[in-house]
Amino acid sequence: MKGRNEALQSFVDAAFTAFNEFAQGPESRQSIQKLFSALDIPGTPASRAGSRLPACSNLDSALGVEAGHASLARLVDRFRQIEPSVEWRRRSSNKTASDNFVDGHANAMILGPGGLEQRTDIWLGATLLAPNVRYPDHDHSPEEVYLVLSEGEFRQGEGEWFSPGIGGSFYNVPNIKHAMRSLDNPLFAFWALCTDKAA
Ligand SMILES: [Fe+2]
Repeated sequence: MKGRNEALQSFVDAAFTAFNEFAQGPESRQSIQKLFSALDIPGTPASRAGSRLPACSNLDSALGVEAGHASLARLVDRFRQIEPSVEWRRRSSNKTASDNFVDGHANAMILGPGGLEQRTDIWLGATLLAPNVRYPDHDHSPEEVYLVLSEGEFRQGEGEWFSPGIGGSFYNVPNIKHAMRSLDNPLFAFWALCTDKAA
């Protein structure tokens, strides 16, 4: 078995604690247990140079987690340790996105395809939005659990926009259409998906 470097393992441990603490409902909890038990087996380490996008100028203000949320503060700290190695990327857009989406967003795959640990069974990453950016509607077959670290709104299917708040967590059933949008402050959220594909 290949190892996982200390900084990344420390991030995974902090992510498990925080996702597990804030998960809502049995589907989320089950998904998180499955996901993090899969992560007990490290994937293939990928050494990356790390690269940022224009939206990353919002990172510091997006990650201003309130005092009192110890597990979230730890998760943010561990994320900051590995962030210099992360390659922030843009995703494809569509007509549901705001006009400022291209330079107003950045996605980081931490564990998964293109991540710091190459694997296909799990995708664990983060999205950062500059203020007043609407992310495009999208869907995917893996179920997904979000853990939100900032203000901002989310939408599932044709439902109303909702604000999970800092530490808010919710579950996306497979293939549901979903989106997010920032208001006057940047948005930052972690997402975790189980693909059921071999690692
Ligand atoms: Fe998603």
